[in-house]
Amino acid sequence: MKVTICIGSACHLKGSREIIQKLQGLVAANQLGDKVDLSGAFCSKNCVNGVCVTVDGTLFSVSPETAEEFFQKEIMGRL
Ligand code: FES
Repeated sequence: MKVTICIGSACHLKGSREIIQKLQGLVAANQLGDKVDLSGAFCSKNCVNGVCVTVDGTLFSVSPETAEEFFQKEIMGRL
């Protein structure tokens, strides 16, 4: 599963770094390193939607507060 987190400037200001750290921690804690491929991506032109995260091409809007819930639902829930 490919998960990309926007690291463009608008998303950066909304906490993309924090989201990457949280997701990395959750992936490691759940030993999903071989299943989930986390990577950064440049601006996907959806800046208004908060930090843009895609899961296998589907776009989601995530904030540092919802990162864990997002992980449970959209990442764990799809494996
Ligand atoms: S900076 Fe993330 S969508 Fe533009």
